[in-house]
Amino acid sequence: MSDLALSAAYDQIVAAGTHPQARPCLRSFFDETTFTATHVVHDPRTRAAAIIDSVMDYDPASGRTSFHSAEQVVAYVRHENLNVLWQLETHAHADHLSAAPWLKKQLGGRIGIGADIVQVQQTFGTIFNAEPAFTRDGAQFDHLFTDGETFTLGDLPAIALHVPGHTPADMAFIIGDAAFIGDTLFMPDYGTARADFPGGSARTLYQSIRRLLSLPPQTRLFLCHDYKAPGRDRFVWETTVAAERQNNIHVHDGISEDAFVSMRTARDATLSLPNLIMPSVQINMRAGHLPAPENNGISYIKIPVNTL
Ligand SMILES: [Fe+2]
Repeated sequence: MSDLALSAAYDQIVAAGTHPQARPCLRSFFDETTFTATHVVHDPRTRAAAIIDSVMDYDPASGRTSFHSAEQVVAYVRHENLNVLWQLETHAHADHLSAAPWLKKQLGGRIGIGADIVQVQQTFGTIFNAEPAFTRDGAQFDHLFTDGETFTLGDLPAIALHVPGHTPADMAFIIGDAAFIGDTLFMPDYGTARADFPGGSARTLYQSIRRLLSLPPQTRLFLCHDYKAPGRDRFVWETTVAAERQNNIHVHDGISEDAFVSMRTARDATLSLPNLIMPSVQINMRAGHLPAPENNGISYIKIPVNTL
């Protein structure tokens, strides 16, 4: 979708969402183990809700999964009497495991991700030599969003935007005046997401970010992660387009694409892989499901040696 078409679609959303009651309600849950913010967004009138980027706890030493983080989300949703329509993933995360299937079982909601997840499944299906039953067509998810696809959350208008660069399949979901932008921008004092995973591209990330920054300045941005920045002692996961355009240390207004690409590429060369990349990718490419159990009834996570 062109910036112009994006603007037009967004203007429609803003126009439809100007009634004060159409402003979505937000509650975020921050997982300090993986620095991930899970957002629960709902329409105050109809109670229709979406859960975005949930976390399944995983202990790499024991290989055990648990749901302490997701249980807090369940308690909140039940207390608020919300009707969960969606379990959304902004992308196939490499640093935490999704709790979407578990939350779906507890609360309902269709699991949605960007249509280009098939590229990610192709890449990591090959690297992890996935079983033949692992289809690389996105069928593990309930819905694959395409760029510019509109939907509603109760009375709230919403649109999905393809914002690749961090991975090929990243999506942003704009619901009313709130944009859930995954791993693109981080807080202004921290900068931007890495772009060196398979299929990532700093140049593409820059273009996706400029697209997000063409949204109205007052748009609320909700991030997937925060790591604190030097000099800041609390986690924050909400900002605005205006604040990012003015202050983002990597990509504020005036920073050129080439300058960003040089900075991002140099910085990425210094980063080690996320601690949980092996289990995260294998589970998230399966929409949050464990790999099928082997003939002894146990699921296994693989480690490709000398490959990643
Ligand atoms: Fe990510």
